[in-house]
Amino acid sequence: MSLEQSVSQHYTHGNLLAALLDAVHRAGKNLDALTYADLAIVDEFHIGGRPATRALAEQIDLPGGARVLDIGSGIGGPARFLAVERGWRIEGVDLTAEYVEAAQALSQRVGLADKVSFRQASATALPFVNASFDGATMLHVGMNIADKGAAFAEVRRVLKPGGVFAIYDAMRQSDGAFAYPVPWSSAPETNHLATPEAYKDALRTAGFEIVKERNRREFALQSMQRRIEQTAQPIGLPVVMGATAAQKLANMREMIERGVFAPVELIARAAGS
Ligand SMILES: C[S@@+](CC[C@H](N)C(=O)[O-])C[C@H]1O[C@@H](n2cnc3c(N)ncnc32)[C@H](O)[C@@H]1O
Repeated sequence: MSLEQSVSQHYTHGNLLAALLDAVHRAGKNLDALTYADLAIVDEFHIGGRPATRALAEQIDLPGGARVLDIGSGIGGPARFLAVERGWRIEGVDLTAEYVEAAQALSQRVGLADKVSFRQASATALPFVNASFDGATMLHVGMNIADKGAAFAEVRRVLKPGGVFAIYDAMRQSDGAFAYPVPWSSAPETNHLATPEAYKDALRTAGFEIVKERNRREFALQSMQRRIEQTAQPIGLPVVMGATAAQKLANMREMIERGVFAPVELIARAAGS
């Protein structure tokens, strides 16, 4: 099985859309009048949830109407948030077919089908023409990508000169032992955690300049504490992560505390503006 098949298999739930809607219903939301904001408890699949997406977006200087690519768009939470809050036209790509289907269905349900779109594709083979996007985002995806150089070269290719690329990924901070499972991987084959230095080298080689870097360790520990308290009641993101959700979250927090990895933001700009 290829890496991409293994990654897709890791994320595939089997009955995701129904489970998501059930969780949202149990959280007290009216399924007949859902808004994108009602979905925030389940549709932001990264450390820190919606506040983390907001914090990343605040560092992206693009006008309303900008065309933005969301790489590894998951079930579409960041894409819908960015479309509504920033007025950007968001196109998401993701490896996992079930996520793409859920992202489309949820967007339709909250009346955003004309503002966001999703398709199944790999970050390393983007189905878009050169220089066609104003910006790109990637939240908690690079940990599943072995060849980051190939992915970043693809992002550079589809961005216009001067286009911004905002990354929010878990990145290696030390050589400490790694404990499985974590939300993005259950075995070494699908875990391609890398240091911020490796990201920056790959970005520069692909034709980006690094504008900003911010370590989000403290923010992560605070939000992880809240998440672990929530896993006792299976409402929210644990629905997406399945039966081992509590172990995944506990391992993640323990490794962030131990300094093995931390979520890091990197803002890069495509050279040539
Ligand atoms: C942890 S989830 C994050 C989803 C979304 N970015 C979010 O923050 O809500 C990681 C996602 O990356 C996708 N993914 C992993 N490797 C990918 C690749 N090479 N190309 C496209 N998507 C990928 C997975 O299918 C999964 O949906």
